[in-house]
Amino acid sequence: MSRLRVLHVVGARPNFMKIAPVMRAFERKGAVEQLLVHTGQHYDDALSRDLFEDLELPKPDMNLGIGSGSHADQTGRTIMGLEPIMIDYDPDWVFTVGDVNSTLAAAIVGAKLGIPIAHVEAGLRSGDFAMPEEINRLVTDRLSSALFTTEPSANENLLSEGVAQDRIHYVGNVMIDTLLRCRERARFLEMPRKLGLFPGKYFAVTLHRPSNVDRADRLAAILSSLVQSAANCNCELVIPFHPRTSARIKEFGLESLVEGVRAVPPLRYLEFLGLMQEAALVLTDSGGIQEETTALGIPCITLRSTTERPVTVTEGTNQLFNGELAELPDVVSEALTRTRDPVFPHLWDGSAAERIADVTVQLGRLSAPDPVTV
Ligand code: UD1
Repeated sequence: MSRLRVLHVVGARPNFMKIAPVMRAFERKGAVEQLLVHTGQHYDDALSRDLFEDLELPKPDMNLGIGSGSHADQTGRTIMGLEPIMIDYDPDWVFTVGDVNSTLAAAIVGAKLGIPIAHVEAGLRSGDFAMPEEINRLVTDRLSSALFTTEPSANENLLSEGVAQDRIHYVGNVMIDTLLRCRERARFLEMPRKLGLFPGKYFAVTLHRPSNVDRADRLAAILSSLVQSAANCNCELVIPFHPRTSARIKEFGLESLVEGVRAVPPLRYLEFLGLMQEAALVLTDSGGIQEETTALGIPCITLRSTTERPVTVTEGTNQLFNGELAELPDVVSEALTRTRDPVFPHLWDGSAAERIADVTVQLGRLSAPDPVTV
């Protein structure tokens, strides 16, 4: 019998660390032919090319070069770019990961062509429809035939939305597969020393969500309270700025607020992992970093009102903060007193991708994919 054909779609930074272990697990099985398509949603080297090297991910077989745009423009062009490739390759499965616009585009094209969709990191819900990712998650899950989940809340969300139990596969967290594989290499880079920082004496910050950076007053208040929080604890602030955030700081004339900050360009995966590992604290509005800090045992304050990853709060080191920004310094000081033990929620054990490959090979070719029947 011919080998199972899997087409993987990735597009933005958080996708790459999720697909890398999945591709490796299929490779080990040997029974699967794989095609990797990069939509090109992210195109800066630090957000894209360098990650492929760090993650030992094969170069993409194709790059659609979609780039930036409004949501409709970016998603629409990705859909148009993916359709002929899927028709031509005619895969048995389309794998789509996470919740970015490329994730959604892949699900729409595959489902309309009658190709079964596998969604890695399915079922996460913030309940916040102002997040484009929430819409991407919902629609992708609705169209998927195999839904690979990372935590119990995801299983519950999918069941409550009417997804059939036999489509839900609770396999664990592929981000943590990657973290466990890379953390020693990351430590070896000695990032704090390279940046002139003392281990345990700095806060690592990431900030890029439109709700935090697209309004001048909000962005200014966040930056000021971060600076104050770090000063109160005699820590430095290191911020690898996402291109969107750098652009907003310039546009709003907020450069003076980041004068004392160690502002660095977006870091490579291994570099940022190395930085997180030795940080006193991480402050972020990202999704995946909430999970990574939990597994590293680093206190994390997430500057959002909701999380789609509640296990990082109930079991891990994560705490949501959406209060008055003037209160942030106290919240930060308190967070520093917490213990720093790594936490690995159930199945965050480095073998999630292995389980995904096992399930997929077992499912094999679905004779009549019917993704819209739940
Ligand atoms: C995307 C994801 C978000 C994820 C984030 C991680 C969606 C809806 N959002 O957000 O979930 O957390 O990636 O980084 O898919 N830009 C560059 N160079 C690049 C890419 C983007 O300069 O390589 C700038 C452009 O000005 C662009 C802006 O960043 O307009 C936003 O990029 P986009 O891909 O639309 O979304 P992200 O904010 O990166």
